[in-house]
Amino acid sequence: EKQESLSKKKILITAGPTYEKLDPVRFIGNYSSGKMGFALAEECAQRGAEVILISGPVSLKVSHPNIRRIDVESAEEMYQAAITEFPQSDVAILCAAVADYRPKEQADTKLKRTDDTGLTLELVPNKDIAAALGKVKQPEQLLIGFALETNNEEQNALKKIEKKNLDYIVLNSLQDKGAGFQHDTNKIAVIDKQGNRRNFPLKDKKAVAKDIIDQTLG
Ligand code: C5P
Repeated sequence: EKQESLSKKKILITAGPTYEKLDPVRFIGNYSSGKMGFALAEECAQRGAEVILISGPVSLKVSHPNIRRIDVESAEEMYQAAITEFPQSDVAILCAAVADYRPKEQADTKLKRTDDTGLTLELVPNKDIAAALGKVKQPEQLLIGFALETNNEEQNALKKIEKKNLDYIVLNSLQDKGAGFQHDTNKIAVIDKQGNRRNFPLKDKKAVAKDIIDQTLG
């Protein structure tokens, strides 16, 4: 009964956090679980798409044979994989929580503790993958981003659509219980580049993935 509505589409999805190395045993990271991106990958594959899932470090598994998974660790590695795969893709859905900064230096040996002084880390900005794909996007390609905002959410989301040349942005609410990082549920709104907004109720991430695909590719 499942319709293969995306059967001729190649869809790139980024998911999970990135880890930015400090030394051989430490990193700067975030709490992203990858669940939303993996749910989107499964949903697209079930609808017949060929999925390239570029994932940061997560403890999730993929089951569908139409999903080709590329595991990466840092934002730089995720950027390289995404910029390589995007030209052959019809759609990119950028769900990853990419670190905005990385340590300027990566020590080859474990940083030593000093008892009497603090430690100051110098950070340098990572590339914005969404904006880089937005720059090379062809008219027939679709680019879908995510935004997790704590204030002025709609205004910031619209600015991001413009700055990154997105076609849609999915707004995650941090206000709502059960939404966002680590949870099995999410509450979203989808905004298009004309500013049209559609709100969805709190649902499990599998159902949220269906809503996102129906609203953007359906
Ligand atoms: O600017 P901000 O991080 O809020 O934008 C979020 C959107 O941009 C998400 O779709 C995220 O995956 C993407 N992004 C990215 N590369 C970055 C930062 C964000 O692809 N370095």
